Order: sequence, then C-alpha cells, then structure tokens
Amino acid sequence: MMRLNANRFVIVGAGQSGGWAAKTLCDKNFSGEVMLIGAEEHPPYERPPLSKGLLVGRIQPSACHLWKEEQLRDAGVNVQTGRNVVAIDPTNKCISLADGGSVSYDRLLLATGARPRRLDIPGSDLDGVHYLRTIEDSLNIQRSVEKDLPVVIVGGGWIGLEVAASLHSQGAVVTVLETSDRLCGRSLPRPLGDYFFDQHIKRGVNVRLNTRIQRFDGAERVEGVVLADGTKIRASLVIVGIGVVPNSELASDAGLAVDNGILVDGRCATSDPDIFACGDVANQLFEGGRLRFESWKNAQDQGIQAAKAMLDEEVGSRDSPWFWSDQYDINFQMLGIPTLLSRVYRKGDVSQGSFADYFVEGDRLVAVAAVNCPRELREAKRAIQGLRQFDVEGLRGSAICLESH
Ligand code: APR
Repeated sequence: MMRLNANRFVIVGAGQSGGWAAKTLCDKNFSGEVMLIGAEEHPPYERPPLSKGLLVGRIQPSACHLWKEEQLRDAGVNVQTGRNVVAIDPTNKCISLADGGSVSYDRLLLATGARPRRLDIPGSDLDGVHYLRTIEDSLNIQRSVEKDLPVVIVGGGWIGLEVAASLHSQGAVVTVLETSDRLCGRSLPRPLGDYFFDQHIKRGVNVRLNTRIQRFDGAERVEGVVLADGTKIRASLVIVGIGVVPNSELASDAGLAVDNGILVDGRCATSDPDIFACGDVANQLFEGGRLRFESWKNAQDQGIQAAKAMLDEEVGSRDSPWFWSDQYDINFQMLGIPTLLSRVYRKGDVSQGSFADYFVEGDRLVAVAAVNCPRELREAKRAIQGLRQFDVEGLRGSAICLESH
C-alpha cells in the first residue's frame, strides 16, 4: 500500500528513464510532489536520433524531446533543468545541489544514466576530437561535417557504426578504428559483427580491426591519428565511441551497493528501501543473473517500473530486452539476449538485405536478431515470451546453422 506520509518523490536525472518515471507518477495521480532534476538544459529527450536524424540535420533538437517542459509542468511535474545533484544523505533523506540548495525527499529515484568512456592518449584534448552523448555533442559534430572531410571514428560499436553510416551519407571520408578483432563485440555474436563489417566496407567506409591508436596529431586542431604500428591516418574530425561508464558515484558515495551500476532488485529498489534506480545506471536482477542494459526501450520500461515501485504498486514482469539500430538502409533489431551456449540458425538471404538469426538453447528460442524482417521478429517475439510454440525442429531443417563464436 502507498505510504500516506510520502509527499515528495525526487527523481535525479531527466533523461528517457527519469522522464518516463516522472510522467508515470503523474499519470497515476500521485498526490504528493514530483520533482525532476536534470543537469542538462533540455527537458527529457531520447538519444537514438543523436547518431542519426539529428546528426545529419534531418530533424531539429525539439523533435528529440519526449515532452515540452510546459507539458510536464501541466502534468504536475516540478521540472528543474540545468541543476546538478552532488550528494545524497540517505540518513536525513535529502540531496544537495551544486548551486548550494538542498531538497528533502520521501523517496528518491536515481536515473543518472551513463557518460562516454574517455580515451586517454596524447592529443585527445585537441579541438576536433568529439564524444557523442548529448544533443549539443550531436550538433557540434554536425556543424563540422562537410563533403570529403576525413573523419576517424574510434570504436566499432553502436555509436561508431551509426555515426559512420550517417557521416558517410553526408559525403565524409570515414575510417573506423576498432581495437578488437570484430565489430560490436560487446553486444553481438560474431556472425552479426561480420555482417556489419561487410556492409560498411561495401559502401566505402574504411574499417580497420585489431587496431591500437597511439596518439592524435595536430597543433590545436586534430589533423591525424597515429596507430601503434606507425601508420598515420588523416583526420580533421574524430569521434570516440568506446563505451560508456555508469554515473553511479552519487550512489556509491551515499553507501548504496554498486557494481557496474547501481544494484537493484526486480522492482528497481536499491540497497536503501527508499531509493530506487533505473535506466543505463541500474544493474538489475534478471532471470537469475544481473543485467545493466543500455537501451532506449529498457530506459523507458524501467522508468515506468520504478515509478510503480515507488508507489508500492505491482511492477509486473520485465519485457524481453529489445534493441535496434538503423544504418544506411539496414534496420537491425535484436530481441532477447544470445548466450554463449546458444546455436545460431540463419533464415533469409543476406545478399537480398533481409535475414533473421535465431538463437536456440536446447529446445528453447532465447533470442532473435533480424535485418529488415519485421514479420519474423514479431512471430519470434511471441515465442520468446512463451505466448506461442516455436518449431525448433522445423528451424533446424530449414535454416543454416552458423559458426557462432
Ligand atoms: N580503440 C578502439 N576501439 C575501442 C577502444 C580503443 N581504445 N576501446 C574500446 N573500443 C571498442 C570496443 O571494442 C567496442 O567495440 O569500442 C567499441 C564500443 O562499443 P559499445 O560498447 O557498443 O559502446 P558505444 O558504441 O560507445 O555505445 C555506447 O550508446 O547507443 C548506445 O547502446 C549503446 O549504450 C551504448 C552506448
């Protein structure tokens, strides 16, 4: 039951997850005050367009906003943008802000997200070396791009590949430098990493695997990248996308349990019963293990889940992880999480630009990854969720089994 004396719920972090939590509390007619505090000057916004539509100037920043600030205020949210929370005092249940203010809370939600991991090599503070996480980052890169500009992207993960596709479409001459022997190694099995490699090479992006960068060269602005083997690559613009670090310091300084993000249970509750966490910063109990899942859908789902938990409501079971990426004319979607034990069966035709990979463990479909195959994905989703039988024998008979690791 909702505790009647709870009168102020504070949400720290006004991104996708924090925004959805605030909206959900208001939609559920929470009778107390909902305060949403964010360091950025924007109302909550979604980040997927930052490496795609916004980066190529196809849409305006306001199109990324989930709601206008007035809409949130009208819904009853006390929105505080441009304010930084610097400490939590869980004993006295209050937070301190960088501008000297402090705010007491009955329940607190940490939706502080993640920040780009920095590359610490000589020259990494030269002008022209960028990271991509915020609307401003995206606009700064967009303003620098022109036809034939030599661009180097450090990191062949999702940020790297989406930015490569977007800037290539703007006429830039793009090189991707990846340290490991495959693309998207953190999140994709090898056959799919190989698929993306082929797609970028085919369109004229220079992708170099097994590459170590030694330094960036240039006087004030970056002019080139020097690799460990001495190779020099011209670069007037560099974008570094080498993963993210969860913003969990507020939580760890306050004594909350943290290990690769803030540890939360299935209800987004932290080790303090009045503090919750959601989104990129939360490492949640999931199917017997733990998962800190960096994705748009997860941020939204967990924000809603956390709001319900703060109200002492049932949160329901968590949806299967879902992730998508758009590059060139490729719409890639992955549902579920492929495990090391799963076997991969491919249906469809890569050369026709449409195929689906099914990840099977024993007789169970655990994940599906599909390129331009929305129907197959819908059907597989029902099977992964246990809403429909999946004919694993039929799949084995009709699909190609791939070497997966
Ligand atoms: N040089 C080159 N590559 C590197 C280096 C380095 N020094 N360090 C790491 N990498 C590579 C990794 O091997 C990996 O392939 O950078 C890649 C990072 O990929 P991701 O982990 O997918 O991270 P990123 O692309 O930065 O995405 C960050 O944004 O879109 C979201 O879901 C995405 O949450 C993720 C976040």
